[in-house]
Amino acid sequence: MKSKQSPNRILLSEREIPKKWYNIAADLEEKPAPPLDPQTRQPISPDRLSAIFPQSLIEQEVTDKKFVRIPQELLKVYAKWRPTPLVRARGLEELLETPAHIYFKNESLSPSGSHKLNTALAQAYYNKLEGVKRLATETGAGQWGTALSMACNYFELGCKVFMVRSSYDQKPYRRAMMQMWGAEISASPSEETNAGKNILETHPDSTGSLGIAISEAVEVAASDVETKYSLGSVLNHVLLHQTVIGEEALKQMEKAGEFPDTIIGCVGGGSNFGGFAFPFIREKLEEKARARNMRVIAVEPSACPTLTRGVFTYDYGDTAGLTPLLAMHSLGHDYIPPAIHSGGLRYHGVAPLISSLVNAGLISPVAYTQNEVFDAAVKFARSEGIVPAPESSHAIRAAIDEALRAKSEGKREVIVFNLSGHGYFDMGAYDDYLQGHLADSSVDEEELQRYLNQLRLQSPPK
Ligand SMILES: Cc1ncc(COP(=O)(O)O)c(C=O)c1O
Repeated sequence: MKSKQSPNRILLSEREIPKKWYNIAADLEEKPAPPLDPQTRQPISPDRLSAIFPQSLIEQEVTDKKFVRIPQELLKVYAKWRPTPLVRARGLEELLETPAHIYFKNESLSPSGSHKLNTALAQAYYNKLEGVKRLATETGAGQWGTALSMACNYFELGCKVFMVRSSYDQKPYRRAMMQMWGAEISASPSEETNAGKNILETHPDSTGSLGIAISEAVEVAASDVETKYSLGSVLNHVLLHQTVIGEEALKQMEKAGEFPDTIIGCVGGGSNFGGFAFPFIREKLEEKARARNMRVIAVEPSACPTLTRGVFTYDYGDTAGLTPLLAMHSLGHDYIPPAIHSGGLRYHGVAPLISSLVNAGLISPVAYTQNEVFDAAVKFARSEGIVPAPESSHAIRAAIDEALRAKSEGKREVIVFNLSGHGYFDMGAYDDYLQGHLADSSVDEEELQRYLNQLRLQSPPK
């Protein structure tokens, strides 16, 4: 054993939980184009959003403050599991025989199993403060639904979850977990909303999508004064809440005495990626020398290639067209990606903040197939002992490829990725993979091109 080996886990004390969230929009010279009212196509006025969101979250959505204070009450709940450790993946480094140093931020240790709890608690807290009785939401893989169910239970709110049909069937225990915290779950598309019924009329066997489930939840919230809508990704305030991840990781890298050459996260709607990456990108925007050459990689599935192949345009966040129009990369709001095991990455759009940073050349997107991702997940489980969520395994795949590139170039680079969640409810998917039955669901090229061509006819946001 080497006597001076630096620690495997870089820990912070409870007192070091960040006291503020970071709003990257305040640091961008070119602000992302604003959301538009679907009726007037003019920038949406904040009060139009008040039918579905509480005032404090609308304010956070449009704030130009660089930092937003985290309420004491939330810091108290965050302390149940935060700060999360930053871990040096020595086992993976050894397996790959790479000179690179690989670190991961372990968000899988939250009580709900992923980063999603960081914003779920914040959203439940602000809704409770404003007298809301119930939250309605969608969930893809089940991680977001689980987190919001837990947060609603904590703040004594009702919780209604529309769970994408493909995940509802694949993951019965996720459903049971949400019920454990008292949530009411429906498979989406459902017969409970007009949006769901319309889809079922034309596609009775629909496997659902996040876009459809969002339409159902928004419809429920808009038609009941006591219910508000809660979104687990995409919007500015959601990414804002997730920046506790990156703020902690930045401090932890300082403790480790290193700075990343490359940071990596998986992207569905963009919340774990944004929350992890934005505080590091701030170092670049502030022209700190150590961040000058840092690369930032966003990883998505090739079955749902929003950033790598999508069109940057104004599009709806949901399938039925109930949400404001967002300036983002999109595959088309009514495009239904093939069913993959990373249900949380199966979304047609992405956070406008991330789209605008991709356009500015600050983030590089890459895409991987399902089998490439599961191969990485198994390597990680065997070398680090943690079963990662299939979503998070996209980041692992890219980290492995970067570490192998560093090896072939003989470079001792520092690679840091976000482990957004664990995969202990995804064993059906791992079983398929280990039995050699996992298909690389690919997109129907002709269909995708049809959707993309439609989007290309629209004028891009200014
Ligand atoms: C573990 C995990 N990682 C990542 C994601 C993708 O969401 P986002 O891009 O908002 O982080 C999800 C979504 O459900 C998830 O469950």
